[in-house]
Amino acid sequence: MRNRVAVISVTSAVVAVGAAVFIQSRRPRGEVKRATAEEVKGTGKCVECHREQTAGIVRQWQDSRHAQAGITCFDCHKPRDQAHQLEHKGFQITRFVTSGTCADCHKREYAEFQRSRHAVASWTAVRGNQDFTAAQLAEARKYHPEAIDRPPNPLPILEGSGALEVGCKACHEVGAPNYDSSIGNCTKCHGKHVESVAMARISDTCGSCHMGPDHSQIEIWRESRHGIMFVARREKQNLEYRGDELSANQQDTPTCSTCHFSGMGGVDSTHDVGERLSYYLFAAISEKRPNFEAARKKMRFMCLNCHSQGHVDRFYQQADTTLINTNAQVKKAQDIMEGLYKDGLLTNEPFDEPIEFLAFDLWHYFGRTAKHGAYMGGADFSQWHGNYELQLKLAELRHSADELRNARTRGRVGRPP
Ligand code: HEC
Ligand code: HEC
Ligand code: HEC
Ligand code: HEC
Ligand code: HEC
Ligand code: HEC
Ligand code: HEC
Ligand code: HEC
Repeated sequence: MRNRVAVISVTSAVVAVGAAVFIQSRRPRGEVKRATAEEVKGTGKCVECHREQTAGIVRQWQDSRHAQAGITCFDCHKPRDQAHQLEHKGFQITRFVTSGTCADCHKREYAEFQRSRHAVASWTAVRGNQDFTAAQLAEARKYHPEAIDRPPNPLPILEGSGALEVGCKACHEVGAPNYDSSIGNCTKCHGKHVESVAMARISDTCGSCHMGPDHSQIEIWRESRHGIMFVARREKQNLEYRGDELSANQQDTPTCSTCHFSGMGGVDSTHDVGERLSYYLFAAISEKRPNFEAARKKMRFMCLNCHSQGHVDRFYQQADTTLINTNAQVKKAQDIMEGLYKDGLLTNEPFDEPIEFLAFDLWHYFGRTAKHGAYMGGADFSQWHGNYELQLKLAELRHSADELRNARTRGRVGRPP
């Protein structure tokens, strides 16, 4: 029995190595450096042992396009420097595989990703610019000058270090710096061993971060016609399809990735998610982006794979109107707050008075939701979780501001006028 197991595992290791060598010899697209005989032999050993130790990892790797293309365990787990290498069962490996490793073979995706707010901006949003080198900051300023040089966000400091680790970081580390001077984390959307394009095309993958009241994109998509139709036609959508050949014939209903990443009908695919965005929707008051015209054209072009011109015109016109109205409501709130600061009724310290939380929720939850709902087809979000709440919070804000002013007249708050 022992012998049989040994024979089977040796045979399957030989088959795995043989398959790897054979497929490697066919030279897939992508920039592959041919593995040495030693590395291929090494991978046979990794697989043989890890099939016992971590069966799930081996299974996922075997299912991946990487395995089909002859990309070995070693290709990713090769040490990148002395400090992070590990003596492991007779091999030198690393357990820290970074986006720098992926970039060795996927230069285009890496470069596009670096231009997006998923990279440096997403980490400075939380930690400020303290974790990057001067060279990295200089490069990032070329793309998002307004988002790079900022102080650490006050919220996680207020909430304590645990908040950063279990909260902000889990999402924002998609753009964190790595030890080998690369930036970002490709595996957030692709997995660590499946490295799958299908996984990235599923809305839930994006929804692991794009959810909740401050960025309810997954909830909005689910309630939109797109989300409903996607569920109805799930098995007709070919999400495994190669990026450069995707068309509405394989995927006739859009997920997040279709509108923000995929190439289709003459629109080039991109990892720079900013390429198709015309406004800064996440901001309190949404202004046009520098690439407004080009971005809108690209996104509209994507819609035209499946819709008529007039349909898309009407959609954007309605969404733009919502944006203008939302800006106006948020401006009213900002004016009230500015008056309170100017008159010394509030300290300059952020988040030390209840009304500051109210003013923050007003745009950060409800203003954003109204806009996101309008641009992604979430009627209930635009209306009841967005515009309606915005009115409610504005009424509450006015009430609180009046109370602060009245309290001062009675001599209880702030310095005298
Ligand atoms: C003789 C068996 C054996 C071989 C050969 C082997 N491994 Fe492992 N590997 C293990 C065991 C056992 C563990 C620890 C599993 C655990 O902690 O549960 C491990 C852990 C790892 C880890 C995680 C290390 C950590 O500290 O988190 C990585 C990465 C890894 N192996 C990669 C490889 C690669 C790549 C190869 C081939 C170059 C390889 N292994 C070859 C048995 C092996
Ligand atoms: C496409 C690149 C890639 C390939 C190919 C690859 N790995 Fe990994 N591996 C990763 C990444 C990324 C991580 C996560 C590293 C981290 O957490 O910093 C990882 C982590 C691991 C871990 C620790 C994970 C855990 O949950 O404990 C093990 C064990 C491992 N790899 C084994 C293997 C084995 C065995 C193979 C070949 C069958 C392999 N890897 C092939 C990218 C790869
Ligand atoms: C040694 C080169 C190499 C490394 C390292 C590498 N890849 Fe790949 N990758 C390839 C090749 C080759 C293909 C297959 C291309 C094809 O079949 O057209 C591929 C395919 C892919 C795909 C498409 C999969 C699909 O389902 O169509 C994704 C996504 C991907 N890689 C992501 C990554 C990520 C993320 C990393 C780092 C964790 C990484 N790759 C590391 C060479 C590499
Ligand atoms: C690991 C968490 C995470 C995942 C997964 C994720 N994102 Fe993001 N995304 C973020 C963060 C954080 C930001 C905010 C970056 C910033 O502006 O600071 C962001 C911003 C964006 C933006 C706005 C960019 C801009 O220029 O304002 C778009 C669009 C976007 N993501 C789309 C997607 C799509 C589509 C997917 C899935 C394919 C996805 N994201 C997956 C965390 C994530
Ligand atoms: C569940 C995932 C998640 C968590 C947890 C999270 N964020 Fe975000 N954050 C996002 C996403 C997604 C966006 C993009 C919103 C958009 O463009 O609509 C974002 C946007 C932002 C922005 C605005 C974009 C920018 O660059 O200015 C800031 C600031 C921010 N987050 C800070 C934080 C801080 C600080 C924490 C922890 C206290 C935190 N976030 C926790 C996912 C998350
Ligand atoms: C925020 C999510 C996200 C992150 C992070 C991300 N990708 Fe992707 N990636 C996608 C999506 C979505 C697609 C599918 C695009 C399409 O439909 O053509 C994709 C496709 C790919 C492909 C397949 C391209 C093709 O034409 O078939 C490769 C290779 C790839 N990504 C590599 C990377 C690398 C390398 C990184 C890190 C620098 C990375 N990705 C980070 C979402 C992401
Ligand atoms: C039908 C196409 C479509 C789908 C599907 C879609 N979006 Fe969007 N998304 C848009 C449009 C249009 C905008 C507004 C673009 C602009 O500013 O011109 C937008 C805006 C955004 C923004 C706001 C960026 C900012 O400025 O703050 C984020 C983040 C985002 N989408 C993420 C997602 C995620 C995550 C999903 C899936 C859960 C998704 N989108 C699904 C079309 C789409
Ligand atoms: C890959 C194809 C595809 C893309 C790309 C696409 N849509 Fe759709 N869209 C659909 C499908 C399918 C439906 C559902 C039609 C039905 O109800 O039968 C739909 C429904 C809609 C609806 C609901 C109204 C209606 O017709 O019932 C709106 C609004 C809409 N899309 C706007 C857009 C906008 C704006 C874009 C680009 C930002 C876009 N779509 C991109 C396929 C697409």
